[in-house]
Amino acid sequence: MFDAEGLGVRLATDADWPALWAIMAPVVRAGETYCWDTGMSEAQARAEWLAPADPSMHVYVAEATGSATGEGGAGGGAGAVVVGTAQLHANRAGGGSHVANASFMVAGEAAGRGVGRLLARHVLAQAREQGYRAMQFNAVVETNTRAVRLWESLGFRVLATIPGAFRHPREGFVGLHVMFRDL
Ligand SMILES: CC(C)(COP(=O)(O)OP(=O)(O)OC[C@H]1O[C@@H](n2cnc3c(N)ncnc32)[C@H](O)[C@@H]1OP(=O)(O)O)[C@@H](O)C(=O)NCCC(=O)NCCS
Repeated sequence: MFDAEGLGVRLATDADWPALWAIMAPVVRAGETYCWDTGMSEAQARAEWLAPADPSMHVYVAEATGSATGEGGAGGGAGAVVVGTAQLHANRAGGGSHVANASFMVAGEAAGRGVGRLLARHVLAQAREQGYRAMQFNAVVETNTRAVRLWESLGFRVLATIPGAFRHPREGFVGLHVMFRDL
């Protein structure tokens, strides 16, 4: 199902992995937005993103069709191209499992076209449906202003900033925001 912009969101399948990795690899290698080893292997990234051992894990893909299809997008079937991905899962186990956590990556070619916002809206709706009471982002790099602005526009607030907790490849030691909203 695609919206007026030609964008849609669905659950990811194993067959989506090559398209997801094409989106994720530049983000991982850049090391500017995630506390991940920039040299991690594709297999490690797959285990991290799809996390098959976590029963709460839901992975989504955003697809573009028609005029919304970005050049250089990866994978996709039936004329649609995967342009972004999100994961939704419990932030903690046991007594903390009513708080959701989510992560997002959008293809560089598709940036700034509303894919991140669409994925975030979808994930927030899914989190409510799945019974979560709140959503928390544990480590939003403070220099990632695009993401911070997007999350704030969707009702998240910065609860705290851990000073110098992230070693940015160009900006040096910068803060990590803990961001939160009720659902
Ligand atoms: C952060 C990210 C998910 C945003 O996805 P996106 O599809 O580019 O975002 P959208 O097009 O939905 O834009 C959302 C908002 O971002 C902001 N934004 C967009 N382009 C921007 C730019 N060039 N500079 C600053 N802010 C910008 C705007 O506030 C925009 O809101 P609007 O819809 O009112 O214009 C994407 O850039 C990404 O994958 N980045 C790398 C990985 C990452 O940082 N993930 C999040 C970790 S917390």
